[in-house]
Amino acid sequence: ANPSLLILPGDGIGPEVMSEVRKVIDWFAQNRGRAFDVSEDLVGGAAYDKHGTPLTDETMAAAQAADAVLLGAVGGPKYDDLDFSVKPERGLLRLRKEMDLFANLRPAQCFDALSDFSSLKPEIVAGLDIMIVRELTSGIYFGEPRGIVQEGNERVGINTQRYTESEIARVARAAFELARRRGNRVCSMEKANVMESGVLWRQVVTEVHQADYADVELSHMYADAGAMQLVRAPKQFDVIVTDNLFGDLLSDAAAMLTGSLGMLPSASLGAVMENGRPKALYEPVHGSAPDIAGQGKANPIACILSFAMALRYSFDAGEDAALLEKAVETVLADGVRTGDLMQGGDGTPVSTAQMGDAIVAALSRG
Ligand code: NAI
Ligand code: MG
Repeated sequence: ANPSLLILPGDGIGPEVMSEVRKVIDWFAQNRGRAFDVSEDLVGGAAYDKHGTPLTDETMAAAQAADAVLLGAVGGPKYDDLDFSVKPERGLLRLRKEMDLFANLRPAQCFDALSDFSSLKPEIVAGLDIMIVRELTSGIYFGEPRGIVQEGNERVGINTQRYTESEIARVARAAFELARRRGNRVCSMEKANVMESGVLWRQVVTEVHQADYADVELSHMYADAGAMQLVRAPKQFDVIVTDNLFGDLLSDAAAMLTGSLGMLPSASLGAVMENGRPKALYEPVHGSAPDIAGQGKANPIACILSFAMALRYSFDAGEDAALLEKAVETVLADGVRTGDLMQGGDGTPVSTAQMGDAIVAALSRG
């Protein structure tokens, strides 16, 4: 049987960019003999509209059973006033939590053709290729106690940062494993100077390193200093491993090193299953972009590169992933641009579908 791929297009531009990924998937089936059993389902607002919940139990079970899940985006203004328990984002959070996707991989890679498009000087980002590994299932977004409570005559908002040793160790392992396949360097970021969880983070990362990954170069940085270094001299980094909250901020900052949100893929990985594949969810970093949804303006590259990550990390098809990344590079070098990749007055943008077609054509040219 072919490996299975569950596609969850979601809301807004999600379905638009996913249509272009389908073209790429078809190309690999026809030209590289890499076929998937693809099924498609609803998530987020689209699932809420039909079922009254942003993720049904059936879809959750399908995601658990799939070899990989590819998601577009969820959310939109239509759902902003819904109760928290049925918000579109809850569908995504449930997937991450129940699949136990503890390692969120966010590459920040600068395509040569876009180096003048970064928020930074081209020489600072040219050739940039870093990977941020963010812990995704624990930390302050999940810790108890949480809530808004009345204390005397005022309200208090409470969240708790809590990390167990094993939660830190498994994400550290994921980072060290990745580093071995890349530049062999890991920088761990926390705030051990002011946070107990940061003290433990640094201890456990160091212990895991000593025990099993002494061949990888390890450094530590306070996350605030890390933020500064990330925009001052990002090329000093290879793999950065950090907690949920800091990873959220640092990876968004790193995003702007490479230009547009429309270019950024991500992967969220969990434990290795019996078939040797990690539980995995691949998705672009961007959201549902309601401001441009339905207009054919969305850049499909982030979602297409997320599929490339699936090829590499779920299906051991690094060669095919590299082919796809090269096709993206070629198309950009040819000057094909969606609107988000243009600065005022430099030509006519292509549509979402034209960008997808150009990438498929570049794949065919080889
Ligand atoms: P967003 O990422 O949807 O959009 C931010 C800006 O970037 C917008 O101007 C948008 O047009 C642009 N943009 C995003 N992706 C693009 C693409 N592929 N091509 C061209 N331009 C692109 O973030 P925003 O506006 O904060 O959130 C919109 C909705 O998406 C909200 O409901 C939010 O909750 C949801 N969201 C969902 C995420 C997910 O599904 N993982 C992540 C972030 C936000
Ligand atoms: Mg974020």
